[in-house]
Amino acid sequence: MSLVEISSVNKGYRSGGEFTPVLSGLRMDVARGEMIIIMGPSGSGKTTLMNILGGIDVPDSGRVEIDGENIARYGPVELTDFRRRKVGFIFQFYNLIPTLTARENVELSLETVSNDREANSERAARYLGLVGLEDKMDSFPQEMSGGQQQRVAVARALAKEPIIVLADEPTGNLDGAREESIMELMKDIQRDLGITFFIVTHNDKLKKYADRVMELGNGILVENGD
Ligand SMILES: Nc1ncnc2c1ncn2[C@@H]1O[C@H](COP(=O)(O)OP(=O)(O)OP(=O)(O)O)[C@@H](O)[C@H]1O
Ligand SMILES: [Mg+2]
Repeated sequence: MSLVEISSVNKGYRSGGEFTPVLSGLRMDVARGEMIIIMGPSGSGKTTLMNILGGIDVPDSGRVEIDGENIARYGPVELTDFRRRKVGFIFQFYNLIPTLTARENVELSLETVSNDREANSERAARYLGLVGLEDKMDSFPQEMSGGQQQRVAVARALAKEPIIVLADEPTGNLDGAREESIMELMKDIQRDLGITFFIVTHNDKLKKYADRVMELGNGILVENGD
């Protein structure tokens, strides 16, 4: 059974009176627990697609069914609720709060899910342990390497126990060794927790981590091997 089922999705932007189509009749079908890598030239619509998957934006038309919810027609309130319950985000530049420790950064993301501070703190510690940062829980972002900061961001995305994790160029800011180590971490988590990952990258070397690689171009996804 599909976890994510997208069909006939159209999305474009209007600026200066001109309409630019970005996604045109896009379809996608993903099972629970898959790791999908999305590639494609700059401007092809990868971030646009990720925003639609994550309930940050809605398509102009089409169906976006995730875990049994058609979010394509959701309004802002429903979308916010969907994001909180089901989506973990990992960004290229980590987006950690500099004045908070690793543990506090993860705890903060849990505040929208639960008011139980003690439980949130324990959960934050558990997920920081999972990404190998048990020694860095009380460190501030500037006291950590880029790779370590991205691990905090991975812990933050996972601690909510989301249904899907979306990572838009998560390793774009890291060197080769750290890039591979973050991918290996996400691969372990995929295996151990059965999390479904969507990862955007420009790096061909990362294709080996994917269950399926999809290429975005001309508004649609083409799977390698199609
Ligand atoms: N808010 C917006 N308003 C107007 N145009 C936009 C907006 N967001 C994206 N676009 C346009 O939509 C197209 C797709 O953008 P998108 O950011 O999805 O590409 P991308 O594949 O993520 O590119 P990159 O690899 O550079 O991150 C581009 O032509 C971009 O200029
Ligand atoms: Mg992008």
